[in-house]
Amino acid sequence: MSNSDDSSLIAKAVAALRQGALVAFPTETVYGLGADARSAAALDRLYKAKGRPANHPVIVHLASVEQLADWASSVKPEARLLAQAFWPGPLTLILPRAAHVLDLVTGGQNTVGLRIPNHPVALTLLQAFQDGLAAPSANKFGRLSPTTAQDVADDFADEVAMVLDGGPCEVGIESTIVDASGDGMRILRPGMILADHIEEVLGKPLHRAGDKPGVRFSGGLPSHYAPRTKVLLVGPEKFEQTVKAETAAGKKVAALAVAGTAGGGAASSMVVPGAGNVIVAPDEPFEYARQLYRNMRTLDKLKFDVIVVEQVPPGGAWSGIADRLVRAAAEQIQMQGETA
Ligand code: TXA
Ligand code: MG
Repeated sequence: MSNSDDSSLIAKAVAALRQGALVAFPTETVYGLGADARSAAALDRLYKAKGRPANHPVIVHLASVEQLADWASSVKPEARLLAQAFWPGPLTLILPRAAHVLDLVTGGQNTVGLRIPNHPVALTLLQAFQDGLAAPSANKFGRLSPTTAQDVADDFADEVAMVLDGGPCEVGIESTIVDASGDGMRILRPGMILADHIEEVLGKPLHRAGDKPGVRFSGGLPSHYAPRTKVLLVGPEKFEQTVKAETAAGKKVAALAVAGTAGGGAASSMVVPGAGNVIVAPDEPFEYARQLYRNMRTLDKLKFDVIVVEQVPPGGAWSGIADRLVRAAAEQIQMQGETA
């Protein structure tokens, strides 16, 4: 674990990355597991450490817009507008790949995901490294993303050379991904840069492919962002009755509700003294997102039988959060199917 402002630590991190080692670093969204994006050996190490299939593309992180030309073969004007408006920030642009970009980065596709993160430690590291860093979220494949250096350390031991500590992440869920590689623009993964913000900058609507949250995600696997404990995602009106039914069935129940809703109201009566089994999260989406993975981890660590999660409103600033909650619940269905 390390202190972020120390320039000798950044120098050490850069040296490790140049040798093909992995360095975890903070971004404003979640912690990333960084590897030299031009090194097949480093990328191999990255996929192995994460336990992630090699056909999943990774995002390349850059320090400045000038580096776009090193990684994308073309950048259409609309993509430039978004880069100008939101970088550094929690937005990833999918663009046509430059010829040298390894299949290990793109997952064999003809596009590449690029982003300039808005975190002083990430930017200092990227400026010192002077090239692109592949950085998926620094968690084992399919598990909750990390929002503190300690979360990273919980998932990884000696596979990672260094973990740069930049404190808790400000945004708390992964970047909004916009596909700008073809005609039109569409959101592949919702985040805290909202469709409305993007459309305002573009001055025209995004393409909306099937408006269900959770199906626009590139790769399309539901197996992301899940705690180990079974998750039941239920609407506010079903929240109390679900908790009661699970408890009556002899289950140890943890709960994540939203303040000011039916679930939030019911949740206070469900507290098991001393257990810390109920969290009532803020009803403001940016605050909720900031705490989401920490709250999930806290409840997961109880090792109870089930976490009942109150659904959030589906649209607007909640859409990225709603997407992650659906995935957390979907993973359980899938894993139970596998182990049953
Ligand atoms: O906020 C974030 O984006 C964080 C921080 C560390 O920057 N990173 C992150 O990376 O969430 P990861 O690998 O956990 O998720 C990256 C997502 C994957 O779902 C992948 O499918 C998508 O980005 N992606 C990357 N390159 C792509 C491409 N060329 N085409 C379509 N999707 C792509
Ligand atoms: Mg991830």
